[in-house]
Amino acid sequence: MSYGPLLFLGILFTLASSWVGLVLMPQRQLGALGQHTDTNTAAVYPQARAGEAQQGAEHYRALGCVYCHTQQVRPEGYGADIARGWGRRRTVSRDYIHDKPVMLGTMRTGPDLTNIGERQSDYSWHYKHLYNPQITSAGSVMPPYPFLFETRPIGPMGPSTNALALEGAFAPAPGHEVVPTLRARQLVEYLRSLKSSGDLPEAPVKKEEAQ
Ligand code: HEC
Repeated sequence: MSYGPLLFLGILFTLASSWVGLVLMPQRQLGALGQHTDTNTAAVYPQARAGEAQQGAEHYRALGCVYCHTQQVRPEGYGADIARGWGRRRTVSRDYIHDKPVMLGTMRTGPDLTNIGERQSDYSWHYKHLYNPQITSAGSVMPPYPFLFETRPIGPMGPSTNALALEGAFAPAPGHEVVPTLRARQLVEYLRSLKSSGDLPEAPVKKEEAQ
């Protein structure tokens, strides 16, 4: 007796059922996810990133920030993410609909950055931190990114308005200034755009406890 047809059907069934489970079902559940409009406030979430921030996402990817930073907040009861102040609610699929690729990350050598735009929106803090993390966070193991900045002689009109306020050991040679390049500016726009706290039906933001 030949087992050929039986074998064929068995393999076909195995492949077909895994395709249904791993491709078709997730696509049906999540494929049509779109922006959510709040019926009370008419706020639309999530918003697409502006051009500068979108460019910054490419630098974030190219510079390997994802090797040390995650962008996913675990639900309460699955870790201390919310207690640490990394988000006001867990993250859900809809938070990432504008991200290509999604940079969830797996390593947390540094803090989760899902909501860094809410925690830290100060440009000069970000520039100094990227130029050398020791300036803002002494003892940090994050590498410095001085190549995202230009060190140049101060022109006849005086220091540039966007020059970094660097002191002590971090200050450039006398008569010089450190200014962010386009890459640094775009990267910081990206970091400032990282905010995943829109109120969603599947992930409501906890209202402040009534006093
Ligand atoms: C070797 C691991 C490592 C890499 C690579 C790395 N970081 Fe960090 N990052 C850290 C650590 C550790 C901290 C916490 C100490 C500090 O603030 O520097 C941190 C902190 C930060 C913070 C402040 C977070 C907060 O909650 O205060 C930001 C923003 C940040 N990193 C952005 C970046 C960006 C952008 C890149 C890529 C250009 C990057 N990091 C690459 C390890 C890393």
